[in-house]
Amino acid sequence: MQIINSAKDMQRYSDALRQQNKRVAVVPTMGYLHEGHLSLVRIAREHADTVIVTIFVNPTQFGPNEDYKSYPRDWDRDVKLVTSSGADCIYAPEPVEMYPEGYQTSVRVDKLTQHLCGIVRPTHFEGVTTVVTKLFNATKPHVAVFGEKDFQQLQVIRRMVRDLDMDIEIIGAPIVREPDGLAMSSRNKYLSAEERKAAQVLSRALFEIRDMCAQGEHDALKLSQHVWQNISTEPLAKIDYIKICDLETLEDVTRIRRNAVVALAVFFGKTRLIDNIILKTA
Ligand code: PAF
Repeated sequence: MQIINSAKDMQRYSDALRQQNKRVAVVPTMGYLHEGHLSLVRIAREHADTVIVTIFVNPTQFGPNEDYKSYPRDWDRDVKLVTSSGADCIYAPEPVEMYPEGYQTSVRVDKLTQHLCGIVRPTHFEGVTTVVTKLFNATKPHVAVFGEKDFQQLQVIRRMVRDLDMDIEIIGAPIVREPDGLAMSSRNKYLSAEERKAAQVLSRALFEIRDMCAQGEHDALKLSQHVWQNISTEPLAKIDYIKICDLETLEDVTRIRRNAVVALAVFFGKTRLIDNIILKTA
């Protein structure tokens, strides 16, 4: 397993693979890996000969009052996990390699970033699309795998790739959940035992409305009220948003006429968790 820290070395590594007609996949991460990330590596492996995992806690996607400094990091554990996952290479640039003095370029996707998390995190997605572009330029992948847990991020990246003619196949990977339903996230580590237990309410509420929708309830207001009421019964939960949106545009829908997504962000103490589920009409 190879560890590469500079964009130039990363490009050389990928160029060599491409010259041998090997298919290259990338799994971008911010480290502190969990089973959800490892499932992305397995999916990447199905689509490529070589799998690169990037590990970079990207400062530009954190707001000024967010958790960049305290974001969980465990390099040695991550290297072990990537090695045992069967990936071939880790690309882990330093912040000064990514954003050297004088750096002044960014990539911005317009409308999709103005919904859901973009409302309370107005600079977040620009940080994501910029760093993902740089990670793509360094790793030169044919395929990139992102988790559906960050549903808005996935749609924003798909849009960016289409709009900028990036020759990369984007694959969305299903959410991996703990046995009690909580979506896996590096930030789950922040939860106290009580908050961790309380957070089960999210997946319970989402599964319930998925079933209600499947049984014919297509009124989006009724469905989202059901989730609000369900989550509000949990005293430790503070709702940031609960939205039922069109899969492509992320605009609110009033009726589920075709598949939609219900997406939510809820605080437990200082920890903001996001989750979502697809509502299917048939
Ligand atoms: O989903 C993440 O972990 C990050 O937003 C990403 C895509 C690695 C960009 O920093």
